[in-house]
Amino acid sequence: MAAVPGTEPQGATRAPLRWKEGEAMTGGATGHAVSIGDLRELARRRLPRVIYGVLEGASEDERLLALTYERLRAWSLVPRRLRDVSVRTQATELFGRTWSSCFGIAPTGTIGVLRRDIEFHLADAARQANIPIGVSGASARTHEAIAEHAPGQVWSQLYAATDPAITRNLVERAEAFGAGALLWTVDLNIAAKNDRLIRAGFGVPPRLSLGAKVEALRHPGWLLEYLRGGMARLDQWAQYAPADADPMAVHRFYLSQRNACQSWRELELLRKLWKGPLIVKGILHADDAVRAAELGADGVVVSNHGGFGLDHGPAPIDMLPGVVSAAGEKTVVMYEGGILRGSDIVLARCLGARFCFVGRATLYGASAGGATGALRAIDILKDEIDRTIGHLGCPDARDLGPGYVRAPA
Ligand SMILES: Cc1cc2nc3c(=O)[nH]c(=O)nc-3n(C[C@H](O)[C@H](O)[C@H](O)COP(=O)(O)O)c2cc1C
Repeated sequence: MAAVPGTEPQGATRAPLRWKEGEAMTGGATGHAVSIGDLRELARRRLPRVIYGVLEGASEDERLLALTYERLRAWSLVPRRLRDVSVRTQATELFGRTWSSCFGIAPTGTIGVLRRDIEFHLADAARQANIPIGVSGASARTHEAIAEHAPGQVWSQLYAATDPAITRNLVERAEAFGAGALLWTVDLNIAAKNDRLIRAGFGVPPRLSLGAKVEALRHPGWLLEYLRGGMARLDQWAQYAPADADPMAVHRFYLSQRNACQSWRELELLRKLWKGPLIVKGILHADDAVRAAELGADGVVVSNHGGFGLDHGPAPIDMLPGVVSAAGEKTVVMYEGGILRGSDIVLARCLGARFCFVGRATLYGASAGGATGALRAIDILKDEIDRTIGHLGCPDARDLGPGYVRAPA
């Protein structure tokens, strides 16, 4: 659980659970979940403590994660009265396609340990909900295989590899399977120090200590999948590793290719290689947004990687207005970080984000109940967005703007 006071996010408070323990073990209870917090609790029950830490942890003291939640909720939404809100819409047009809402699923890696084939579950949910899904450069399954579950909806995330031929090939593959956008992540050039996982003896490549294995006996639903194997794979990278590499060796090869010296030069290279929408993910400083736009990026994601990386960094919501005003009309600014309620998404839209991404919210759902659980998370957020724009007196989410916001004192 939370390492420092205040990390416990609002909206994730433990509700009195109405479902039976057995249901929670199988994930069959996600249909009863009322909030993302309920799904979080179901995920916590299903997963061994160490594995839950993969989902819940962040860097060092987790100060940044706590701040991300805290600052998001410090802003207020100011409703306008006596407007007809009987017909409401949150449908959003982005890069030539209309999505059912103004958020998608953020790319998350090392998640194979949460549930077998979790990326397929997330993609199935994204397809059913008609929202985009970012797929991590460190995915357990190949982007091609995941895209079969959500054709035309996968956005391919990558870090530039040390070997430029691999970067080039990753981009060619994204083009070949029809990725809707390329998400180039720039905020984790070196690995995060995740104290929670280090203390628990969870290694990268993913490996369980003896204590964790013993604790796992109390989580039979998860353990069964673990014993069937295949949870710690990294198929996306298997073709680049030496021919006889087992999953652990593939992980080690992937880590050896993480490019600590990736710089703006790579953006120029990617712009030449990739003709579709190119998004720089992990921007916090307004000047970096301007630079990205100058070098041809179509969009930026204001993000702190879910609290990984620089633990003394700022909350992304506080940086969003500055990035929006610096980036200019042509650059699509998006937001992610700490979203657990539909109103969080509405707030980010009011502050100028055209689109949002959620990481943990859908992971809680998918960890607890596969595609059904992930879809439940999406439905909960959509329902809350719908109610929030109704309460605000702004029936079309496209009309949200700074006029509906009160900044923290
Ligand atoms: C378990 C986990 C793994 C992640 N892996 C990646 C990754 O491989 N690539 C990436 O660009 N971002 C990654 N992220 C960051 C997410 O894309 C996103 O920025 C973050 O989850 C948003 O915050 P939220 O979880 O509060 O919604 C990861 C986040 C989590 C929680």
